[in-house]
Amino acid sequence: MEINLTTKKLDNVKTDAVFFLMFEDNKKLEGELEKIDKALNGGVSDLIKLQKYKAEEGKFLIVPTLGKIKANYVAIVGLGKEKKFENDILRRVASYIIRKAKELKLSDIIIDTNLQQFENYDEVVQAITEGLILGDYSFDKYFSKKDEHKVKEVQINIPKNQDKDRLNEFVRIGKILAEAQNFTRDLVNEPANVINTIQFAEIAEKLAKEYGFEIKIYDEEEIEKMGMGAYLAVAKGSDNPPRFIHLTYRPKNSQGEIAIVGKGLMFDSGGLNIKTGDFMRWMKTDKSGACAVLGIFKAIGELKPDITVHGIVAAAENMPSGKAYRPDDILRAKNGVTIEVGNTDAEGRLTLADALSYASELKPDAIIDMATLTGACVVALGEFTAGVMGNNQKFINEILKTSEETGEWMWQLPFNNKLREQIKAPHADVYNVGTTRYGGAITAGLFLEKFVDPKIPWVHIDIAGPSHHTSGWYYHPKGATGIPVRTITWYLLKRSKFFDKIGK
Ligand code: BES
Ligand code: ZN
Ligand code: ZN
Repeated sequence: MEINLTTKKLDNVKTDAVFFLMFEDNKKLEGELEKIDKALNGGVSDLIKLQKYKAEEGKFLIVPTLGKIKANYVAIVGLGKEKKFENDILRRVASYIIRKAKELKLSDIIIDTNLQQFENYDEVVQAITEGLILGDYSFDKYFSKKDEHKVKEVQINIPKNQDKDRLNEFVRIGKILAEAQNFTRDLVNEPANVINTIQFAEIAEKLAKEYGFEIKIYDEEEIEKMGMGAYLAVAKGSDNPPRFIHLTYRPKNSQGEIAIVGKGLMFDSGGLNIKTGDFMRWMKTDKSGACAVLGIFKAIGELKPDITVHGIVAAAENMPSGKAYRPDDILRAKNGVTIEVGNTDAEGRLTLADALSYASELKPDAIIDMATLTGACVVALGEFTAGVMGNNQKFINEILKTSEETGEWMWQLPFNNKLREQIKAPHADVYNVGTTRYGGAITAGLFLEKFVDPKIPWVHIDIAGPSHHTSGWYYHPKGATGIPVRTITWYLLKRSKFFDKIGK
């Protein structure tokens, strides 16, 4: 699908469809209707009144063109009331439009933004671009019969007084971000019989070759030599050996250094504390954090911000077997902290313990980890919101602020000393589960805290909820969502002063 900007007068344009965007509570509605009437040769105001049309989010109103616009299909699409989240509304509505266009088997369409006074067209064109690409996504490679219809071109009609070259740059950024997110979705959606630890490492290697990243992949023996006893224990039960992956993006004019760590469980059966039926479904998505690392690297490989980024994944599979680790086992992580195993299904934090120790040794300016870590986080915040924790409030605030800009909902969960007491183990420095199930997302975060150098600002993002969805929402189809690729990439861009060059 091509996405282009245009500043056309719609009177004499030939296209399959035109979609006008309209807010529900727009005070200038009267004026707008006049404009639509003018564009379409009248009658629209009456139609809206007749149909009692309210421009609720994603609501379509088909309008007659009366011959003025040469399109088979012209519709008004509602943007709803939620002005505060204007960007994300546009992302969502663009996804509804592309799905409608596919349903109607249209090939060339125009999205017209001229009826609105948007404050910031950088954000408008970027958000529409992202929504189109994210909404167009489906994971259909294994269906014998596919819906092959593809929309060929979407033109975004913008006001004439806008700087088209500048806005084209934001279309480009939107494309890169959304395609990186789709890349992550593709990886997460692949089942564990297609992407195992070895194959995941190969994909990382291929990405490194394509974009010129440094890469080091450690095998089981090397992982043992590094003293990663917690991570190794998790991997032991599986016939697929662990692979520890360290990618580095190192630009010439680096303005700083960030490490991003992703939980990489290719499959989480629970191990000896095996999960029951329904809880084991979707556990191919337990590699979402790791796949987000690769998606973020794809995006920065394209956008080339001036900031050094380390991408770290301790890839493993959690399986029960005669070789599997057990409850009561005592493990020693890379940083020397000993861990007593309370439950083999709390395995993600064990792999992250060693990955975070490794990341800390690199002495970056900051560490971000992304992990499908706890069901408790989903209970606390619902399926659509990621939990954010960490050791530095300023850093946490920056990530939360960024998530508001990207529409990837995040919310902070508070650390406290009473919950810290709950991960004391009977016979080792720390337990891998809390003594109660309450606050399970937080006790998991507090466990990770033990493996991060306290001098390094660190943020932990629990994406167990929003990493995938069984039916999909907004611009996410069912399956993997690719969250939080856009938030972290956007944060890296801001932190690297990427936008100074464009003058944003
Ligand atoms: N991978 C799961 C967490 C998860 C749950 C991700 C639901 C996505 C959806 C994690 O390894 C796990 O099993 N956590 C346990 C921890 C418990 C044993 C303390 C959980 O949340 O039940
Ligand atoms: Zn688990
Ligand atoms: Zn897990």
